[in-house]
Amino acid sequence: MLGNFKYVNATKLYFGEDSLKYLNDELPKYGENVQLIYGGGSIKKNGIYDSVVEILKANGKKVVDDGGVMPNPTADKLRDGVKIARENNVGLLLAVGGGSCCDYAKAVSVSVNCDEDPWEKYYARFEEPDCEIIPVGCILTMAGTGSEMNGGAVITNHDTHQKIGHVFGEEVMPKFSILNPRFTMTLPKNQMVAGIYDIFNHICEQYFSGEDNNTTDYLAEGLMKSVIDASLKAIEDPEDYEARSNIMWAATWALNTLLSRGKKTDWMVHMLGQAAGAYTDATHGMTLAAVSLPYYRHIMPHGLSKFKRFARNVWGIHTSSKTDEEAAEAGLIAMENWMRKLGLVMNLSELGATEDMIDGIADATIILKGGYKVLTRDDVVAILKESL
Ligand code: NZQ
Ligand code: ZN
Repeated sequence: MLGNFKYVNATKLYFGEDSLKYLNDELPKYGENVQLIYGGGSIKKNGIYDSVVEILKANGKKVVDDGGVMPNPTADKLRDGVKIARENNVGLLLAVGGGSCCDYAKAVSVSVNCDEDPWEKYYARFEEPDCEIIPVGCILTMAGTGSEMNGGAVITNHDTHQKIGHVFGEEVMPKFSILNPRFTMTLPKNQMVAGIYDIFNHICEQYFSGEDNNTTDYLAEGLMKSVIDASLKAIEDPEDYEARSNIMWAATWALNTLLSRGKKTDWMVHMLGQAAGAYTDATHGMTLAAVSLPYYRHIMPHGLSKFKRFARNVWGIHTSSKTDEEAAEAGLIAMENWMRKLGLVMNLSELGATEDMIDGIADATIILKGGYKVLTRDDVVAILKESL
């Protein structure tokens, strides 16, 4: 049964090959100085930077350049971004990139008018914003995180070996996001598949929880089937626009708060993956791929009927002649085969983790309570060892 909930999504989306032109409709709503946030330079190589700057200039905006946002943006970079925004009195934070740029923009937005250190306030003490928020817009170049339509902002602190996500409220969600699937075509294959697995796991995190029958789980199954189908086409032909556009749209719906309404959610794969990421700085989707199967095999006995349903409804496995355990395992084997076909990194060692890091990663793993089994620290250590 669905519980009580509020559903609101504050982000306006423009989707499709022509979507960038709608930036012209949005810009007049915001101040003259626009902080243009981007990563390590991919948008300069593929021409997106020039197209965006042209539109900003045509709208009379002063461009405040803020490049160099690294994958897994850091607390130090966040502090720099806040300084840039303050010095230039910016009226809009425009992120052009993947989840890292969008997340960073949101973290800057809640920190510009706040005196305290952003890491301490939002990531150590988990406080909510109590100062004026600078609006964020997003032009997405990588499909995966769903950051384009949610309030999440994940920041990494290398000094403390922590990677922590703060999910802010609707006032921090991007005011608008522009989603042109063509912009994702220049992604290297490893980033494309990491993004695809990130999408799939966001759905799993919200699906593998609860015993009830609810609409949300059927939505999740449909989305998973679309991601599997489109991903197999995209790895055969990365230029397949239909597949790439379906992946982009599925990414947004996988984590724009819809699938979590009225039901429990798990998120332990992300907690394990983020802790491993804090130690290795590895690509987010790959950290999830590395810990997923050991985690799901560990908790499967506690949520057998959902894992059996996953096998049947997502992977089309005939389960009637199988025991519950056999049926559930068959679903995970099908998932594993698909993950291998995509070429995902399936263990933490390849991502740079070593046996001596296990204790630290376990300490950095936040244990949540919404999944089929509340893990103990020993469970966490066992899963991490299995993932090496
Ligand atoms: O920095 P540039 O040069 O732009 O290159 C990026 C980066 O190296 C490259 N890239 C992006 N678009 C490209 C491209 N290269 C060529 N062509 C393009 N069109 O891809 C690399 C990865 O980009 P990044 O933004 O880091 O990837 P992603 O979108 O996966 O974002 C990862 C961050 O988002 C957080 C992760 O933890 C991580 O910090 N997440 C945010 C969430 C949220 N807001 O709700 C939820 C997620 O679970 C996740 O935790
Ligand atoms: Zn994720």
